[in-house]
Amino acid sequence: MTNVLFVCLGNICRSPLAEALFNHHVTKMGLTVHYTADSCGTANYHVGDPPDHRTIRNAEQNGVIIRHRGRQFHPLDFESFDHILPMDQSNYSNIARMDESGTWLSKVKLMRTFDPSPDELSVPDPYYGNERDFQKVFDILHRSTLELIRFLENTRSVASDRSGI
Ligand code: 4NP
Repeated sequence: MTNVLFVCLGNICRSPLAEALFNHHVTKMGLTVHYTADSCGTANYHVGDPPDHRTIRNAEQNGVIIRHRGRQFHPLDFESFDHILPMDQSNYSNIARMDESGTWLSKVKLMRTFDPSPDELSVPDPYYGNERDFQKVFDILHRSTLELIRFLENTRSVASDRSGI
């Protein structure tokens, strides 16, 4: 089982959508036995809150249901998850600061590393934006989570070739 954690600032816009899209693709591809996904924020502003109503509505309009309650990143997440995917460079720095020895940083990669057509390194924060900004985030995360799954599936098939399964 591969555990994936998506991270943003508030855990109400970008990362719960990334989690929902990842699960959406994984389910469609029949891979649910191989993956679990979760999301969290580096800030504690929205702990226990549902996702932002604009994110929920935009995802619904695109055929994706989101269910999540906000939680904050915890250093134990470094051990529990195989891949930690911050949405932007500020989220990346916040996480990196909690790993002073650099033990876990190889697990941490910017989400847009997996975007096949990136125009910048960060998934832009839509919190102060409009509907178009929410749709842009949806499009970025839709294609990036798909590419992430392709990458993880390649890793998994290499690992199972090696173990002879
Ligand atoms: P997110 O967006 O990090 O994508 O969940 C934000 C949500 C809330 C705030 C900032 C960004 N906030 O300042 O409350």
